[in-house]
Amino acid sequence: MTDSPLPSGDSSPPRPLHRRRPRYSGRHPRRFAEKYKEHDPQRYAETVAKVLASGKTPAGTHRPIMVAEILAVLAPQPGEVTVDCTLGYGGHARELLARLQPGGHLIGLDADPMELPKTEKRLREAGYGPESFTAVRSNFAGLPQALAGAAHAGADCILADLGVSSMQIDDPARGFSTKAEGPLDMRMNPQRGQPASAFLAKLSAPGLTDILRGNADEPRATELAAALAGRVFATTRELAEAIRATLPRVNKDDTDLTIRRVFQALRIAVNDELGALDTLLRHLPACLNPGGRVAVLTFHSGEDRRVKKAFEAGLRDGDYSEISPEVIRPTVEERRGNPRSASAKLRWARRTRS
Ligand SMILES: C[S@@+](CC[C@H](N)C(=O)[O-])C[C@H]1O[C@@H](n2cnc3c(N)ncnc32)[C@H](O)[C@@H]1O
Repeated sequence: MTDSPLPSGDSSPPRPLHRRRPRYSGRHPRRFAEKYKEHDPQRYAETVAKVLASGKTPAGTHRPIMVAEILAVLAPQPGEVTVDCTLGYGGHARELLARLQPGGHLIGLDADPMELPKTEKRLREAGYGPESFTAVRSNFAGLPQALAGAAHAGADCILADLGVSSMQIDDPARGFSTKAEGPLDMRMNPQRGQPASAFLAKLSAPGLTDILRGNADEPRATELAAALAGRVFATTRELAEAIRATLPRVNKDDTDLTIRRVFQALRIAVNDELGALDTLLRHLPACLNPGGRVAVLTFHSGEDRRVKKAFEAGLRDGDYSEISPEVIRPTVEERRGNPRSASAKLRWARRTRS
């Protein structure tokens, strides 16, 4: 039985129809959409706590990485203006917002039109009204325009936590997952550009080789590109199977790693992530107030190299008065508790005072 019709002759107002949740097979929900308890952290706090304790990320959420380290280098103060260039689930933003009060303002940017409204709602419900928090659907390459739109000449703190969120990776419908079947899409903003399937179908083998090497340091780039470039894969699983078929003598762990690298390389290309990062790094000095701080969290060598070079050039040119002497990594405890933090690297810079 799914609905609960009123007995005939009952004159009370109709109750909303109750629909039963579709049953999942087995004892534990496996699919993203079936993890209804994880999706509702307020009602099922115990289940969510268990998922966190097991080192996993609850469905539909994202655990912010290196929070203490980021707060230490940005040192947000009451009354300051801060931009979170990659709002995501709002984990870092929430910590920053708490330290900017009273009187401060956080502008949260994200390219993702699906997750941004949910995060804005959560932060509004946490008590941050328009006077303290502005959410902007924008690529962070447009940072100067976003600041101007919020009527600020510059920011005291800027954070960029690059890559994709757990919500994006875990939702098969977004097409980022190497494990679950979904359309081969991979766009952070599905309203812009072309999905990964169309992108790959138009690529030449040399073009794909460059992408696999440049975006994921893929050692088997030539072999994989010859097998995959120009082909049409409608789903994530079709692409993963084709990668497996190209490497018949490679063991399972190594094949899984290769699949992850190919997905990462394609995702970075489809979203022009390195182009956006270069533009952001160029704009940063002009967008920081004198003495302002910036922190960038990267997840692979191509990103970290760019940040390091841009900060070093800024120090030489006198845009920055100080930069991180070396990269900062997550603690062993954080890496153990949240495997998704394992490859994170943090760098920071401080704008000169005059
Ligand atoms: C790693 S998550 C950020 C998580 C966030 N710090 C938190 O605590 O929840 C990265 C986010 O940045 C967004 N993003 C990635 N590249 C972007 C870009 N060029 N412009 C705007 N948003 C971007 C993604 O859509 C994603 O939501």
